Amino acid sequence: MDMEVVKDHDEEEYFESYTDLEVHKLMLDDTVRNEAYRAAICDNPNIFAGKTVLDVGTGTGFLAILCAKAGASRVYAIEASDMAELATVTVHENDVADKVQVIQNKIENVELPEKVDIIVSEWMGFYLLHESMIDSVIFARDKFLKPEGVMYPYKCILHSAPSYSPEIFKFWENIAGVKMNTIGQLYRTKYTGKPEIMQIHPNNILSKPLEVFEFNTKDIQQESIRKITKNVQSECHKNGVVNGIALWFDVYFHAGDKPDIVLTTAPVMSPLQLTHWKQTVIILPFEKTVEKSEKFHYNLDISKSAKNPRHYNIELNILDPDEQSAMSTSEDKSREEFHVHHNDDSEYDEYNSGSDDNN
Ligand SMILES: C[S@@+](CC[C@H](N)C(=O)[O-])C[C@H]1O[C@@H](n2cnc3c(N)ncnc32)[C@H](O)[C@@H]1O
Repeated sequence: MDMEVVKDHDEEEYFESYTDLEVHKLMLDDTVRNEAYRAAICDNPNIFAGKTVLDVGTGTGFLAILCAKAGASRVYAIEASDMAELATVTVHENDVADKVQVIQNKIENVELPEKVDIIVSEWMGFYLLHESMIDSVIFARDKFLKPEGVMYPYKCILHSAPSYSPEIFKFWENIAGVKMNTIGQLYRTKYTGKPEIMQIHPNNILSKPLEVFEFNTKDIQQESIRKITKNVQSECHKNGVVNGIALWFDVYFHAGDKPDIVLTTAPVMSPLQLTHWKQTVIILPFEKTVEKSEKFHYNLDISKSAKNPRHYNIELNILDPDEQSAMSTSEDKSREEFHVHHNDDSEYDEYNSGSDDNN
C-alpha cells in the first residue's frame, strides 16, 4: 500500500479519536494537569495581559478560555478535529468570543494575520513523546511565534528509574492456595511487547530518578527528538526487587518573578496527585533482587516509528555495570545482558492509542 495513504489514514484516525468526549473528559478530569495550566496562565496576568496567544490543539477550548480570562487580547484556538465546534460553543458560553477565535484546521494548514506573543499547548503524551504532537507545536513556533515570544510549557524532562510492579508478578503465586507461577510467566509475556501505562507507588521506585533527556520548547528541533539514546547508571537506594523501568515527565511554566510552575507526572503517594498520564513502565519478563547501593545500569533507545510517525519504539537493554564504560562508547549490543524491544505500534488500552500500522 502507498505509504502516503497509510499516513493519511493514521492522521484521520488520530483526529477522529479526539472527537470522543470521553477522551476530553479524561483530560479535563485531571485536576493536577488543569491546576498547573490554570496557575501558570491565570496567576500570571502580567504575562498574558494584552498579549496575543496561539493555543495549538485547543480541544474543548479549555486553555484558550483561560488565556482570555487572564487578559490576553486575542487568542487563536486551533483544533483539527470536529471538537472545534464544541470549543466554539464553550467560548461563547464563557463570554470570551470577542477574544477567542476558534479555527478548525490542522495547525500545519493555518494562516494567521499576525505573529503571537505566547504559544500555549497541552501536547504531552505518555512518556512525553507518544503522539508526537510536539512536532506540530514546533511547527507553530517556527511559523507564528515572535522571536521574543514565550512557550507554555517551556521546559520538559523525561525521568526514569528501576521499579517494582507487584501486581503483575505476585498475583499468580497464590490463588486461594494454588500456585500458578507457570501461567504467570506466560501471562507476563503479554506485558513485554508494549509499555504499560500504570501507577507506580513511590515506595516501588528503587533508585533516585535519573534524567533520560531534557529539552526547551523554545529551541528544540524535530530532528533532535527522532531518536533518543541514553545510558542510565542508577544506584539502588534500598533493598528490593526490580521488574520494570518506569518513565515519567515533568513540564515547567514560567511564572514571572515567582518560581516556575511544575506539572509533574512522577509517582505519587496520593491518588489525588495522580495525573491521567500515570507512569509508563517497561516491564521485564523476570524479577531481579537488588540490594541497597547496588548498581543498576540500562540503555534506553526511544526512536520514532518509521511506519507511524506518531508512535515511538522503545528499546531497553539491561547492562552489566562492570562493562558500562565499554558499552556506552562502543554501543556493542553483544554485551547486553538482557534486551526488551517495545514496539509502540501496539495499542494502548487507554485513550489515544492512534492506529496500529501492522494492519
Ligand atoms: C491533548 S489534547 C488537549 C486539548 C485541550 N488543549 C486541553 O488541554 O484540554 C490535544 C488536542 O490537540 C488537537 N491537535 C493535535 N494535533 C493538532 C494539529 N496538528 N493541529 C490542530 N489540532 C491538533 C487534538 O485533536 C486534540 O484535541
